[in-house]
Amino acid sequence: MQFQWYPGHMTKAKRQMQEDIRLIDLVIELVDARVPASSRNPDIDELGRQKARLILMNKYDLADERAGAEWAAYFRGKGYHVVGIDARNRAGMKQVTSVIADACKEKTERDRKRGILNRPVRAMVVGIPNVGKSTFINSYAGRACAKTGNRPGVTKGKQWIRLNKQVELLDTPGILWPKFEDQAVGLKLALTGAIRDEILQIEELGLSLIQILAAGYPGALTTRYGELDEAAEPVKLLEQIAVNKKCISRGNEPDYGKAAAMLLDDFRSGKLGRITLETPQHMPE
Ligand code: G4P
Repeated sequence: MQFQWYPGHMTKAKRQMQEDIRLIDLVIELVDARVPASSRNPDIDELGRQKARLILMNKYDLADERAGAEWAAYFRGKGYHVVGIDARNRAGMKQVTSVIADACKEKTERDRKRGILNRPVRAMVVGIPNVGKSTFINSYAGRACAKTGNRPGVTKGKQWIRLNKQVELLDTPGILWPKFEDQAVGLKLALTGAIRDEILQIEELGLSLIQILAAGYPGALTTRYGELDEAAEPVKLLEQIAVNKKCISRGNEPDYGKAAAMLLDDFRSGKLGRITLETPQHMPE
């Protein structure tokens, strides 16, 4: 699903979120584990104030595990509960349930003191487009889920999915916009495929990826594309990749566009290995 955001969209999405968030105890925020900061919405902390917070670092299967552990520690230090997941894999969902219970311990305890027992936690899934919200809800809710009807006091039309004894989930995820006014963020989101390729030239994207890989993941390009001089300029490297992989145009010239498209596909599908594009070290305190 690709999105084009306009100021009107953002105002509407924000208003919807403000309404929905009043109904819930826990915000389940999905981020892309390859770009955990760039895939966050700039207003989510303000919107989710006073709610229990869980960050699911999704697409963990594609991310660098060491960087993933650093990011998890970073977010935990800021007071979030954190789990790395592959939303397509149902087996990982048990862990999510136990972290949800942990994240909502205070609320459950408050309820208990007031004599309220076994009231499920109400949660909502939020995140930018393409981060895996629908995939997660499908995996987590599975087939066993039963939609509960409207309830008195709850805004008309809201559907809750009863996940298990402990958790009810608002059935529609909150779609949030990224910080795309920041160029570095836009670049990383384009690399992961979260925003349209056309926004940036595919060759430019390929060159940026080469630069990031040559610096942070030496050997990754050579392993995939055969012998290369990884110390060469990005444009030279792209040319070598084109030659090695026979991306040649009709005039017998290296086809940079084709090579860049192949490179991006390979990165997005994990064929270059597990790669994370940013580290917590550059984050402000
Ligand atoms: P959204 O609701 O937040 O917009 O995201 P959605 O669930 O539609 O997921 C977007 C794409 O990401 C889907 O690929 C989905 O399979 C993939 N995806 C979701 N979670 C994971 C994960 O943990 N790991 C990996 N590797 N992929 C994940 P798709 O439908 O095939 O779209 P596309 O890949 O063709 O763009």
